[in-house]
Amino acid sequence: MANKDLGAAKKAKQDEFYTQWADIEREMNAYLEYDANVFRGKTILLPCDDPEWSNFTKFLALHFADFGLKKLISTSYAPNSNAGAAFYTPTLFETDDPAYDEGKSLERGRVFTLTPEDVSGDGRVDIDDLKWEYLDGDGDFRSAEVTAMRDEADMVITNPPFSLFRTFMAWLGAGDVRFSVIGNSNAITYSQIFPLIKENRVWKGATANTTDMVFGVPKGFPLKDADRAKAERMGYPSTAEYDFTRLGNSCWFTNIEHGRRHEPLQLMTMADNLRFNKKLIKGLDGGDGYQRYDNFDAIEVPYTDAIPSDFDGVMGVPITFLDKFNPDQFEIVDLSRYAKTQGMSKEFVDAYYASGQTGQISEGHPDLCYYSNAGRPVVPYMRVLIRRRDTPSS
Ligand SMILES: C[S@@+](CC[C@H](N)C(=O)[O-])C[C@H]1O[C@@H](n2cnc3c(N)ncnc32)[C@H](O)[C@@H]1O
Repeated sequence: MANKDLGAAKKAKQDEFYTQWADIEREMNAYLEYDANVFRGKTILLPCDDPEWSNFTKFLALHFADFGLKKLISTSYAPNSNAGAAFYTPTLFETDDPAYDEGKSLERGRVFTLTPEDVSGDGRVDIDDLKWEYLDGDGDFRSAEVTAMRDEADMVITNPPFSLFRTFMAWLGAGDVRFSVIGNSNAITYSQIFPLIKENRVWKGATANTTDMVFGVPKGFPLKDADRAKAERMGYPSTAEYDFTRLGNSCWFTNIEHGRRHEPLQLMTMADNLRFNKKLIKGLDGGDGYQRYDNFDAIEVPYTDAIPSDFDGVMGVPITFLDKFNPDQFEIVDLSRYAKTQGMSKEFVDAYYASGQTGQISEGHPDLCYYSNAGRPVVPYMRVLIRRRDTPSS
């Protein structure tokens, strides 16, 4: 295999991360707590999925009746198109079915649908009532076939391939759907994603923002021992079918309402923070309090819980603020990466290197920067620039 192909295969294999029931249940419950009828009468598409192993299909099929769903559609990706599916063998679900076709099984994607029809005749509608057929194509979410299903659906829910996250979000954006998808929390900084967050068209989910998510992976997937051990401690020991790992930076991205984003952050005034906020007082920068940036009209707030309740201007806060962001309380002005700062001055850059720091900066560098109380030049990590909604200027 050429190096390039090997790289692509490795990347694709990292797409085989299977979501656990408890994570799906926690997030869906948050939507239901906010609106008990959120799924009622809805057609839900689960792309990049496969009911034989997907907890998304199993969970939503189990709740088909009590959530009041109209239709559940799940599509899977053809093994031959999927560099990550070298381990693939068709399951009895497929091979036992008269529609099974050895050639198509490898070449084609499959579509599974559940409607309020008790196909199995057992008196209820659940996963046993799923109907399936081969797709014409390979089930790529970008195909016309799956895109038409997106357009039919009210909601799209899945954990999309990690390597295609940006493309997947653009595909969602091109359809007029509600969605809930798992991604990497770093994605908020992407040029394609951040504007959506700023415009309040996408937000972080209600759960898993500060806790690990466990994922099943195909047997043989190279795992770090520490991750495997942690997943095991979290209640997921290896099984005959799967090994388990954990990711600390996975989260949900959604445009479905939930209550967490309407809870206001409880904040102290600037004066009280300076007196009582231990983190701020003992902080990295020697209890700097709130410094003004040297190259942008805003103040540095190094901790989300140190956001002052009474500051009227723009504040730079850590990106983890977005886990607690309440759009009724704050407006997102920008991400420091995209903000039009004045650039770092020559004086700042000189002082920075004179202080023995070794980051890669030069005059005009657009990152935010400030001087600590002790006069030390500081270049903080990426900041979200926010402003209170109830300020006189807003
Ligand atoms: C992160 S896994 C998640 C699987 C499942 N949705 C879950 O959460 O357990 C993403 C899945 O998308 C599949 N996939 C990769 N590229 C795809 C594509 N272009 N179109 C559709 N599915 C794709 C992968 O094979 C993989 O099974």
